[in-house]
Amino acid sequence: MLRLDLANIDQKRLGPDRGLRWEEELNAHQEVMAQALARLLARKQDPEAMLGWIEVPEDQATRQAVQAYREAHRWVRELVVLGIGGSALGAEALDAALGKGEVRLHFVDNVEPAPVLELLRTLDPAVTLVNVISKSGSTAETMAAFLVFRRWLEERLGTAWKEHVVVTTDPQKGVLRPYAQAEGLTAFEVPPSVGGRYSVTCPVGLLPLAFAGVDLDALHRGARRANQEAQRPLRENPPAQTALIQHLFARRGHNISVLMPYSSRLRYLPDWFVQLHDESLGKAKGRRGGEVYAGTTALRAVGTTDQHAQVQLFREGPFDKLIAFVRLEEVDEDLEIPGVKGLEELSYLFGRRFFELLTAEAKATAHALAKARRPNYTILLDRLDAEHLGWLLQHLMWQTAFLGELWEINAFDQPGVELGKEYTYALMGRPEYAKLAQELAQEGVR
Ligand code: PA5
Repeated sequence: MLRLDLANIDQKRLGPDRGLRWEEELNAHQEVMAQALARLLARKQDPEAMLGWIEVPEDQATRQAVQAYREAHRWVRELVVLGIGGSALGAEALDAALGKGEVRLHFVDNVEPAPVLELLRTLDPAVTLVNVISKSGSTAETMAAFLVFRRWLEERLGTAWKEHVVVTTDPQKGVLRPYAQAEGLTAFEVPPSVGGRYSVTCPVGLLPLAFAGVDLDALHRGARRANQEAQRPLRENPPAQTALIQHLFARRGHNISVLMPYSSRLRYLPDWFVQLHDESLGKAKGRRGGEVYAGTTALRAVGTTDQHAQVQLFREGPFDKLIAFVRLEEVDEDLEIPGVKGLEELSYLFGRRFFELLTAEAKATAHALAKARRPNYTILLDRLDAEHLGWLLQHLMWQTAFLGELWEINAFDQPGVELGKEYTYALMGRPEYAKLAQELAQEGVR
């Protein structure tokens, strides 16, 4: 199960000036949220609307093709993922949470030379598979890394390098697809109607996660649970509810949306969420035209670690944050805290369990924040497994899509990053950008 504890958003806890009258808000927004859902569903069949992520968890054939590829590559010990943003963050988050370690995953999502060189020095090419992932098949960082790893493999393995590369890209666009065809490389598809940050349940995430030992059937099953819930009336619809909460607090000036899982295994989940939320919802233009400057800023935190770094600010700083905790209800393994003679001051810990302490810390922090009238809610997962994480990630994608509707923006494009990319091409001497390079030089950028 995934369920919500919303006690700490309500004015019964936070007081009338800070909290919501949640029951009344639920009644007042039933129609608005039903319309938002109807608009999303009406656009679902249009590939341009980029809502393909809703259907992806139904795609058993692709799941099976990925599983078959993994089975045929039992020799792999090291998997290097070359991808950035949506082409890396989901798999990285889920590998950290669920990876079994049979195959080590390495994510190359930057072009700083030293870490890449260090990785290359440690890898044995004979047991290394390189998965180059780029929906557009043109992202400079990913392409640069691919050129390096391709040559590294060829120099060591000769023509067998082709067995050590698998491509994940758009079926039509970009340079990777025709290159893979020409060289006879195995290639998986990113469906055209699925954007990078919504692609974790398609081969972008599935392929690395198959090697990490993650149960892909369960991951998709969980995502389908979120799909079912997202299409219910507001009172039974957790993603619509969390979107509404985010919306209502944003309107009251809570412009920072914190995601704070109480789990080290979920430490990269907020990184994935930050990209999903910020790139989807930070928009200058509205759907109907005109300037809107929409968005709230997602912020990462991990409990309990960041209780000792950020909670001071969350509790006593500006009234500008909404904190979403993620908490597990049970764990498979636990650790008993032993008693030690001479340390009786710690006897409240003796014989207790780590998970009890973790849970107490999470509950205590949530309540302490509420006492300071800081809104927060908790997403509770029965346990940390592929089904619950599939459910949670798809829930957060729906939350983002609902917010896009509430704010009347396109949550599936990213026009704000294009100019920076073009400037990079110009500075790197790409011929088509020669004129832009001249303009930059006149502006003192070279
Ligand atoms: O969400 C997005 O669309 C982006 O963050 C992309 O995932 C990122 O820019 C990488 O793009 P690509 O997969 O085309 O290399």
